[in-house]
Amino acid sequence: MAKSIILAAGKGTRMKSETSKVLHKIFDKTLVGYVIEAVNKTGIVDENFVIVGHQAESVEKHIKENYTNSKTVLQSPQLGTGHAVSMVLPYLDNYSGDIIILCGDTPLITEKTLKSFIDSHKANNSDLTVMSAIFDNPTNYGRIIRNADGSINSIVEEKDANIEQKAIKEVNAGIYCLNWEKIKPVFKELKTNNAQGEYYLTDIIKWAKEQSLKVDAYVLKNNDEIFGINSKAHLAEASKILNQRTIQKHLDNGVTIIDPNSTWISPETEIEADTIIYPSCYITGKNIIGKNCKIGPFAHLRGDVILEDNVKIGNFVEVKKTTIKSNTNACHLSYLGDSEIGSNVNIGAGTITANYNPLTKIKNKTIIENEVKIGSNSVLVAPVEIKEGANVAALSVITKNIPSWSLAITRAPLRILEEWVTKIMKS
Ligand code: UD1
Ligand code: CA
Repeated sequence: MAKSIILAAGKGTRMKSETSKVLHKIFDKTLVGYVIEAVNKTGIVDENFVIVGHQAESVEKHIKENYTNSKTVLQSPQLGTGHAVSMVLPYLDNYSGDIIILCGDTPLITEKTLKSFIDSHKANNSDLTVMSAIFDNPTNYGRIIRNADGSINSIVEEKDANIEQKAIKEVNAGIYCLNWEKIKPVFKELKTNNAQGEYYLTDIIKWAKEQSLKVDAYVLKNNDEIFGINSKAHLAEASKILNQRTIQKHLDNGVTIIDPNSTWISPETEIEADTIIYPSCYITGKNIIGKNCKIGPFAHLRGDVILEDNVKIGNFVEVKKTTIKSNTNACHLSYLGDSEIGSNVNIGAGTITANYNPLTKIKNKTIIENEVKIGSNSVLVAPVEIKEGANVAALSVITKNIPSWSLAITRAPLRILEEWVTKIMKS
């Protein structure tokens, strides 16, 4: 098994945020989370070292809480990408496998590309493989300098490049695979004699060539995958790219999406064929949606939602941590949270599961069995169970379990005061 190093110590000034750059999110997942998960999904890497610096504490906490196979290593001060990688030396003294190096701010990298990158490193028997990409506008990237025979010579940073080098369109994507045992000596030899006065990770290429090690480049096919986030505008753009990728997958699988431009679906959401997603839905977190469901317009699925077949979630319905069995409808203006809802249930407009007690901060469950009909504008105060076939009259506040096939009604009796208006008008 290989190990990875994920660089995430940099400042991210242009985000103009009090939150660390790599803790910004697309849907509910952090940027560094996307990178870690792509690496983990390759199945080739068993441990990740995340290099932290700016806002180290919050990044550390996030990694610790969410990614058990990842540890953070502090880099302070931040003296460059080469310096960042050297921080792991004490941890990997006796390690002799491959190391994959990536950046924590490129959430669009895919497991598939990483796998093929590592495979090519192995197939070529390389000591060092760098991922490159061909950009029409290569500005700001390090340029890949090749020899006349096409072999890799070195990488030159934008700020150190001469005019000819600046014209090169093949850039350093910032992802590397290296034979740790052979490459690690370089981290004690890196110098800062460059335009930025930093320890450049890119200098390992030239060093490896000088040591007659085998260095190769892997040319990336889809440049979006190394889209790095430096600003809120970049974050918005990356979110859009990721979303469109997901939407395309669902369209290919036979899901009908009326308006891909206004539909947001998290990568972890599964949807079966012939379900229709109407415009302006936001579906985040992990969800499983069956076939022939109708979602939206304007529906909000917030994660841990399981919908069986033929379920309707209509406009302005919010659903979270809820399972809904087949042929059930919640067509308008509802909140369904921490609930288990059976099949052939009708959830009337405006139904609310009151699942949260803000005083105790405890969330409670609502269980609604098969064939139940909930009247409009009802509040189901959890924990509560509505047993099979029961009816809840409109405008009821349900605070006790309701037995099967019974009617529950808390509505104040209707009073009609005849001629009341006429009398008022006369007085
Ligand atoms: C780097 C590469 C460049 C490549 C580009 C791809 C170097 C010298 N240059 O440039 O060839 O085209 O990435 O995106 O490596 N970081 C640390 N500690 C540090 C400095 C940086 O952890 O001391 C992290 C940053 O948080 C970031 C990553 O390393 O995630 C890359 O650093 P950045 O300054 O963005 O490198 P570039 O100048 O873009
Ligand atoms: Ca830099």
